[in-house]
Amino acid sequence: MSGELSTGVSQSRRRRAGKKVKRHPWDWYVEQEWVTERLLDSAPIDHDVTVLDPCCGQGNIVRALRGRGIAAFGMDMFDRGAPHFLGAHDFLGNQRCLLEGGGDLSIICNPPFSYQNGQMAFGLAERFARRALEIATHQVATLLPLKWLASQGRYRLFSELTPAGVWILCERPSMPPGDQIEALGDKAYARGKIDYMWVLWDKRRRPHVDDRGQPFAPIYWIPPRDIET
Ligand SMILES: C[S@@+](CC[C@H](N)C(=O)[O-])C[C@H]1O[C@@H](n2cnc3c(N)ncnc32)[C@H](O)[C@@H]1O
Repeated sequence: MSGELSTGVSQSRRRRAGKKVKRHPWDWYVEQEWVTERLLDSAPIDHDVTVLDPCCGQGNIVRALRGRGIAAFGMDMFDRGAPHFLGAHDFLGNQRCLLEGGGDLSIICNPPFSYQNGQMAFGLAERFARRALEIATHQVATLLPLKWLASQGRYRLFSELTPAGVWILCERPSMPPGDQIEALGDKAYARGKIDYMWVLWDKRRRPHVDDRGQPFAPIYWIPPRDIET
């Protein structure tokens, strides 16, 4: 998903100045590589399947996956300097993506949450998740705010396509807008304000089902980086 309206520092400064906080028009909010590394440390992510991040931004998910030996590629609406970038592509558009139909594929991403071209787009992260689940043959992992789990509108998503599990990041990531990171300098990744989780689907496995036949998703807690596991 994406993120905070801004980092703590710039947001509070702008609030103090009485100015309205403006979201990035395409929800380009950047998580650090550790956020994906913690997913890899905690969840059973396939390492031998090609991974696409269809909204890769500057490519931190691709970098983290490649750092662990996973063949990862990125696409995005815009070329934001990501490594292994396959091209600019609207993931929600009608055109097929380059890796679609090309063999085993997983998708791991931090999707835009609510903005497209400066306009509010309701249900955006769900549309990303559903599209990813159409395209991927293996796993789909999306980084989302914890509140995303509770919603009348998403009941159908969770009951029809029950995730394999939910991994809560006990350490809050900070997600500054990508176009302000340089200006923010060492304050860019000040302490985060929103709780995030990774939601993982695995298309090859049936969902967990309880004694009454109800599907469910187990919850795991990813410890903060300073706690040894
Ligand atoms: C939360 S940011 C991802 C940050 C990324 N992980 C990084 O390292 O910079 C979401 C990204 O989704 C992209 N995006 C928004 N709408 C899109 C669309 N319809 N198709 C593809 N990418 C899109 C934005 O350009 C933005 O880079």
